[in-house]
Order: sequence, then C-alpha cells, then structure tokens
Amino acid sequence: MQAHTLRDAALAALCCADIEAKCQQARELDAQANTWPLDTSARLAAPTKLPGRPARPRLIHPGEVPPRSPYTPDGHAALIHAICHIEFNAINLALDAVWRFPGLPESFYLDWLRVAAEEAHHFTLLRTHLRALPRAGQGAGWDYGDFEAHDGLWLMCEKTAHDIVARMALVPRTLEARGLDATPLIQAKLRKVGTPAAQAAIALLDIILRDEVGHVAIGNHWYRWLCEQQGLDPVAHYRQLARQYGAPRLKPPFNHEARQRAGFTATELEDLQQIV
Ligand SMILES: [Fe+2]
Ligand SMILES: [Fe+2]
Repeated sequence: MQAHTLRDAALAALCCADIEAKCQQARELDAQANTWPLDTSARLAAPTKLPGRPARPRLIHPGEVPPRSPYTPDGHAALIHAICHIEFNAINLALDAVWRFPGLPESFYLDWLRVAAEEAHHFTLLRTHLRALPRAGQGAGWDYGDFEAHDGLWLMCEKTAHDIVARMALVPRTLEARGLDATPLIQAKLRKVGTPAAQAAIALLDIILRDEVGHVAIGNHWYRWLCEQQGLDPVAHYRQLARQYGAPRLKPPFNHEARQRAGFTATELEDLQQIV
C-alpha cells in the first residue's frame, strides 16, 4: 500500500509484521509528522487482518499464561518478555487510534503518533535488556517471541473499534492506567531480587512509568473532550462503558500520585474504589 497521508502511513506501520521495521516507522512518523499531509476526514478501509505481527510469540488465552516468579533468572526473563509484549501491543494500539477514527482535531493524531513512537522506544529498551539476559544452555540470550503471550490488549482494541469514546475510556484510561498501578509493585519485587539485571530493569521501568503518565494524560484529555462534545458525564459514562465492554477488574493498590498527574480528578479517583 502506497501511503499518501500520515494516517495511511500509520495504518501501513500497523500492518507491518517486521518488528524492527514497525518500530522504525513509528519513530519516523512521529519525527517527520509535519512533513506529511494529514487528512483528518478520510475514512480509511480496514484491512482484513490486523495488526501485523511476527509469527512468535505464540498467543494463548490470558488464563493459560503460567504465573512466573521474578526470583529466578528464567522468571526474570519471562517477566521482561511479558512487559515487552505489552509494549509491542501498545505500539499497535496507538497506531490504530491514528488511522481508524476520522473527524478529530489534528492534535489528536499527533498525540497518538507521539505515543506510538514512545511505545516503540519502550519495546526496544526491554527487548535489548531481554537479549542481554543469560539463558541456560544457550550461547545467546532471550528474545521477544521466546515465551507465550496473550492478546488481551488487542482484543479491547477490536471491541472498541467502532466507538472512539469507549476506546479512549478503556484503552489508555483503563489498560494503560493499570500499568501506572502495577509498575511500582513490580519494581518493589525487583528491588528484593537485587541482582544487576533486576536493577537495570527497575531503571527501564522508571523511564516507562514517566512516559506512561503522559499516555494516560492524553487518554484523559481526549476522553473528556469527546464527552464534552457529546454532552456525556465522564464519570457516569465511564461506569457504563466499563460494564458494556467488560473492562478488566481494577486491582488496588492504586497509584494515586501517578493517576493524579495523568489527570484523573478527585471524583474519578474515589470512583475507582467503587469499580473494584
Ligand atoms: Fe509503554
Ligand atoms: Fe503507553
């Protein structure tokens, strides 16, 4: 497919099955966004198969992913692989927001391209770490694709493909926001492990957490903007969407400080306690 506009090019990057090419395209599109025409009104046809992804990792049901301890070298690799897979999906989720939804302000598309580029950076940081981890009996380290993974993030993307308000509510404001809660808990476990690999992973997660506050903030901004346009009450509508689309249950403890920085209001933070 020959891309003529920024949104065509985002779709082409989403379709790309080669990991390194996808990451490079995501970064280049963001860096060169102002050199492309941005047609905000075009309705682009959905390809039959999305997203483009490599043959591995093998995808399994979320309930089948085995629990793994970060206290062993293989468990550490499995944990990093799981986060790496989240970042790979996150590149696709951000690119999907760019091509799929017409009729939004230009800044909507530029925001999600920036997110796609940052997710590509996160993916690359974690993959580089994974590749440097020792693997028993093998000359080389681990790589993305070496463990099984589940497809929960992309499934929510598909479920909300026809509803931009639900997409903003349930992908950045729910799934990405769960990462804000989970990251300090993972870092605390890694601190207990205390190995050089664990210390290195903590530092990577610091970078990721910093950027993810920005992604959730972008989700909050556009969710509120859309609610205002459509005369919806953001808190009540969120509750309805969470039920309607089967949003995953939120698990305390919540990272109130990061959620506040990401733009959740005091009412929304109180409401979290009701949703669990
Ligand atoms: Fe990320
Ligand atoms: Fe993100």
